[in-house]
Amino acid sequence: MKKTELHLGPFQGITDVHFRNVFADHFEGIDKFFTPFFSGIHTENSKNLRTQEIAPATNNIHNLVPQLLSNDPDEIIRFSEQCAKLGYKEVNLNMGCPYPQVARKKRGSGLMPYSDLVAKIAQGTAGNFKTDFSIKCRLGYYGSNEIDELIPIFEQMQLSELIVHARLGTQMYGGKPDHEKFANIVSNYTGSIVYNGDIFNLTDYTLLGTRFPQVSKWMLGRGILADPFLAADIKAIAPNDYSIRKDIVYRFIMQLYLTRRKAKADNPAVIGRMKELWSYLSLSFSEPTLAWRLIRRSTDFEKYEEAVAQVFKNQSWIGAGFTSSGKMY
Ligand SMILES: Cc1cc2nc3c(=O)[nH]c(=O)nc-3n(C[C@H](O)[C@H](O)[C@H](O)COP(=O)(O)O)c2cc1C
Repeated sequence: MKKTELHLGPFQGITDVHFRNVFADHFEGIDKFFTPFFSGIHTENSKNLRTQEIAPATNNIHNLVPQLLSNDPDEIIRFSEQCAKLGYKEVNLNMGCPYPQVARKKRGSGLMPYSDLVAKIAQGTAGNFKTDFSIKCRLGYYGSNEIDELIPIFEQMQLSELIVHARLGTQMYGGKPDHEKFANIVSNYTGSIVYNGDIFNLTDYTLLGTRFPQVSKWMLGRGILADPFLAADIKAIAPNDYSIRKDIVYRFIMQLYLTRRKAKADNPAVIGRMKELWSYLSLSFSEPTLAWRLIRRSTDFEKYEEAVAQVFKNQSWIGAGFTSSGKMY
């Protein structure tokens, strides 16, 4: 039987070093983590990489892949060199970010319509990597035919992995992933491929696993932010008892909060960070709207702690997870 490998997708503003460490302390099933993207690697000893987000002392470098947002071959190689020095074995290029201010500069998913630029990246980086190189992309920015022109270039680049979020950039995070098109890519691409998009529960995973028997690597996103047991459920290693699950979630959320407070010297911005996560996590409680309202309204540490205490006292953990109707705001 093929071995299932699960990746935790990067989320700028949520899956920072503290999230990844505390998550790995409490939940099982994730084989590989990705940093949210870095950018602006202008020098050989870039300031942007002198942070605990990537420092080996604060990260488990064996299962972490640093990600870069760039369209410049020299910058990509600089990133690979600096990550190699830190001990990393793989770096990832973000060709998926959909935000117009990024896409307009032909970066993220905004790079997908420009096969000439991607070919230049392939040429300019060939033979120069100090690490493995993988790409996380979409099907295209405007249209899903864009990836067809890129597949031969990706093949030539000998990527260690091609992660495909099966949406268009213009869809942002809405609408549905295009499974037809993904099937078409799977049959045309000979390298190692990872599926990403709307795996929200065990049923979604099972259906996709049946539809794509050739695929053994899956990246989880909003689904695992809403229900952190998703990876363990997929691998059938999660605790069956939902009150035990609730205790684990409580310990996770408290440890993450305290770790961030300590790391940020009690900067109130920590509450905003926690709210970002809660906008997903609330969905797995018995009364998601109420849970989210309580957390959203909290404006200082004391109120936040009270809100968390109320949610855990009055609600059960259902683990319903993310649904296509969206997160809590
Ligand atoms: C707020 C937010 C931030 C994200 N940040 C990144 C990022 O830094 N790098 C990246 O490759 N993807 C990023 N993503 C995309 C996710 O990693 C993932 O590909 C996407 O949510 C699709 O998977 P899903 O449908 O399972 O959620 C972000 C998504 C959201 C909603």
